Amino acid sequence: MANLIINGGNSLSGSVKLQGSKNSALPILAACAAVDGVSVIHNCPDLTDVTAAINILTCIGCKVSREGSTVIVDSTSANEFRVPEKLMHEMRSSIIFLGALLARFGRCRVTAPGGCEIGLRPIDLHLSSLRSLGAEIKEQGGFLECRAEKMKGCTVTLAFPSVGATENIMLASIGADGETVINNAAREPEIEDLAAFLSKCGAKIEGAGQSVIRISPPKTLNAAEHKVIPDRIVASTYIAAVACATGKVAIKEINVEHIAPVLPAFEAAGISMEFKGNELLVSSFSRPERIKLIRTMPYPGFPTDSQAILMAVAAKARGTSVITEKIFENRFRHVPELIKMGADIRVEDGSVAVVEGVENLHGATVSATDLRGGCALAIAALGANGKTVIEDIYHIDRGCEGFEKNLCELGADIIRA
Ligand code: EPZ
Repeated sequence: MANLIINGGNSLSGSVKLQGSKNSALPILAACAAVDGVSVIHNCPDLTDVTAAINILTCIGCKVSREGSTVIVDSTSANEFRVPEKLMHEMRSSIIFLGALLARFGRCRVTAPGGCEIGLRPIDLHLSSLRSLGAEIKEQGGFLECRAEKMKGCTVTLAFPSVGATENIMLASIGADGETVINNAAREPEIEDLAAFLSKCGAKIEGAGQSVIRISPPKTLNAAEHKVIPDRIVASTYIAAVACATGKVAIKEINVEHIAPVLPAFEAAGISMEFKGNELLVSSFSRPERIKLIRTMPYPGFPTDSQAILMAVAAKARGTSVITEKIFENRFRHVPELIKMGADIRVEDGSVAVVEGVENLHGATVSATDLRGGCALAIAALGANGKTVIEDIYHIDRGCEGFEKNLCELGADIIRA
């Protein structure tokens, strides 16, 4: 298995174009299965998770081709409502196909995704919501046998603003009769992007990006063309890279509004950021300052996906930072790996990390524990003394397109070997 080998100490300069959002491309690709015809999705990042979604589309009978960052999905001949276990397990978020397949075929057979590196990842909110829409879902031996002769729009209130559950309800509701209302819906930009695509397909959707979303399915759903929004989490990854390595980098094709929740933390760390249209100029030429408190929350709060990334910055900051993870129960697995690099971090009651910044981190052999944790280790390594070897980098390939290539072009000493 390949590793990333990073020799720390180089500052960064130049510019990097932001990839399309993984967490927007995945539900939109699932939506392509629910509409008949040829959909053209631009700005799809080249990631193993996107490949996994394409494999599922192909398996259910869609014809899928890729031209650069454009994915073309012809769902005309889609005819298979069962997704093999192997494909479901290639990507945890494949549960998002549940709603789309119910909308398309009125039935589906998928495997329950199970937990992952960052937590148990239950799907109770998905299942209870789809049952409210009229789906009959039997959970047998890890499989979900679902039938919905005709779903009927209704009002669903989510106990937690789950991103995936909100997306699954939206995807199922376009195959239902009548309006569906989602109360306490997730408000992430990826929800708005999915709604924008479904609206182009003919659905009438109001309130996406707010806590109450209304979806009225059209008489007919048509395939559409769409450009995926930029990846706000990868944006925070590159800002953190500059914070740790120092330097001056222009991040192109960024959406200012989408990254607003992380800006106060970077400003507290003393990172200077200047916006020019859809370009962000990030610079830092000294040790970061501590970040007093980060609490991960649903959007528009601080995103849990940026928690590990900001911890890498806090690890070498001047002073004590406190990071509270309120979304996932096991999302501090990068902490022991950062400690191997000399970080001084203690975790209290599993959800609060107290980070005493140290002046110098040092190289070590560490393992990526999950996608964002792996990125955090690489970022820390950029600003550490000496060589760091990061193992299990397949986690990083799930969500960061051309990760080491982009960092290399910015001046980092990083190779995949
Ligand atoms: C999406 O996961 C993202 N993944 C995650 O990004 C992100 O961390 C998360 O939203 C929160 O923003 C994709 O979009 C593919 P949730 P999702 O349902 O939909 C609990 C990354 O690194 N919950 O909002 O799975 C759950 O246990 C990934 O790109 C239930 O209890 O997140 C968690 O505590 C990691 N029951 C909380 O809600 C349910 O039925 C948030 O989960 C569903 C969720």
